[in-house]
Amino acid sequence: MTPILELENIAKSFPGVKALDNVHFTMEAGEVHALLGENGAGKSTLIKIISGVHKPDTGVIRFDGKPVVFNNPREAQALGIATIYQELSLYPELTVAENIFMGHAPKRGIGPFKVVDWNTINNRAYEILASLNIHDMDVQRKVGSLNVGNRQRVEIAKALSINARILIMDEPTAALTEADVERLFDTVRLLKERDVGIIYISHRLQEVFELADRVTVLRDGQYVNTKLVKDTSEPDLVSMMVGRTIDNLFPKLPGDPGKTVLEVRNLSRAPTTHNISLTVRAGEIVGLAGLVGSGRSELAQVIFGITPAQSGEILVDGQKVSIRDPRQAVKLGIAYVPEDRGTQGLIKQMNIRENASLAVLRSLSRASFIDFSGERILAKNSIQQMSIRAYSAEQIVNKLSGGNQQKVVISKWLASKPKLLIMDEPTRGIDVGAKSEIHRLMSELAVKQGLAVLMISSELPEVLGMSDRVLVMREGSIAAEFTREEATQERVVTAMMSETARVS
Ligand SMILES: Nc1ncnc2c1ncn2[C@@H]1O[C@H](COP(=O)(O)OP(=O)(O)OP(=O)(O)O)[C@@H](O)[C@H]1O
Ligand SMILES: [Mg+2]
Repeated sequence: MTPILELENIAKSFPGVKALDNVHFTMEAGEVHALLGENGAGKSTLIKIISGVHKPDTGVIRFDGKPVVFNNPREAQALGIATIYQELSLYPELTVAENIFMGHAPKRGIGPFKVVDWNTINNRAYEILASLNIHDMDVQRKVGSLNVGNRQRVEIAKALSINARILIMDEPTAALTEADVERLFDTVRLLKERDVGIIYISHRLQEVFELADRVTVLRDGQYVNTKLVKDTSEPDLVSMMVGRTIDNLFPKLPGDPGKTVLEVRNLSRAPTTHNISLTVRAGEIVGLAGLVGSGRSELAQVIFGITPAQSGEILVDGQKVSIRDPRQAVKLGIAYVPEDRGTQGLIKQMNIRENASLAVLRSLSRASFIDFSGERILAKNSIQQMSIRAYSAEQIVNKLSGGNQQKVVISKWLASKPKLLIMDEPTRGIDVGAKSEIHRLMSELAVKQGLAVLMISSELPEVLGMSDRVLVMREGSIAAEFTREEATQERVVTAMMSETARVS
């Protein structure tokens, strides 16, 4: 059988970096082919070559056995190559149906009198969603009002509105909770049955074993190997990716929490935060679990002053404080690593050096000028400490791979030497090696420097592996609290769910 897609000898360089070199890849119809590699290994670059965003410097692409050259994404789309990129690309102000048909809306009439046919669009949108077993979405709703899981379903529907033969998904589950992941997997299996070939990028190895038929590993832009998933194992994949084995994913040091750093009492802000009381002590990592929509990120934003509380009290080091905006929070020694690094974490047009020092700009700059050499040292340390893959501290953040951008966000906030660090999905999109590094750093900062950590995470192994205490949120309130010893997967999941808590 001829593969749908074959890539041979692909190379691609960007200024200062060889992103891909001598890479091979093939794709059969109805196959789920996972693409693995550390942050910066070249995965996104490879799929951007397949989808016509980048042209390879050398190499051949064959589609149905025939060599093709894509000059732009439209030419790849025309052959049925649909892509869901790492950063979702929907328009929040448009409706579900408008997003699905963005750029190729069915029109009615002739010549200059052609008008967009809204009825057809809405009906076709319902049809496509129904073909994905999605029956509960209002296609006239604005995409901005949907949760991440549903936004992603719209992305898939959009991809399929062009009759895809190949669907490329770049870290589709990075922003999803377990329930949404299951729904996504059902969709993938459905497409597989229809002979769509799926290229699947993820940093979660369990997903590869659950979903994929074959796996290709890249390391530093080089092709390492392609294997049948059934012929490989997790340690095998990890050593192919990082060139060594990692034995401890959650290197947590035994802690001895000290005095209370943060205490909140009956904190409320309508409509998402109801009467929250909690404490975080020095040297303690408190995990905050819950479903998407349970109000975890919103709580973080209330504490940090982005959406200040309407009632209740916040105490830092036992003193009552008023946090009306993030600047006051920073002054009190609170740092916040947001969930959405794209819009909240980074200034993408600036370089690593500038981004890494944003939070400490004030202490670095004497009067009105900025201490560039101080900034440079800081950035160099961050690059080293977090093993950020960049050619220099002057690299524009936009040009870093997704996972490496996340590392810049984290290092920026660590550099501000906070008392309390609030992290929202800290290792989302981070590869296995760097993930255990971040976990080690987190645990060290807590135990050795007395940092108090409030960690929001949708990855249960991370919550259970790293937390001294686990709080579970449900519908804007704290539903349960467990000590490290009490916190089992079963107990936490049970507390997360409830008959009424299925938020859509
Ligand atoms: N447009 C660009 N300009 C310059 N360098 C780039 C550009 N796109 C990617 N790179 C570089 O190419 C390398 C590979 O990046 P790529 O995004 O393909 O990694 P990735 O495997 O997808 O990583 P991640 O898991 O972090 O998403 C990185 O060193 C990155 O900085
Ligand atoms: Mg990527």
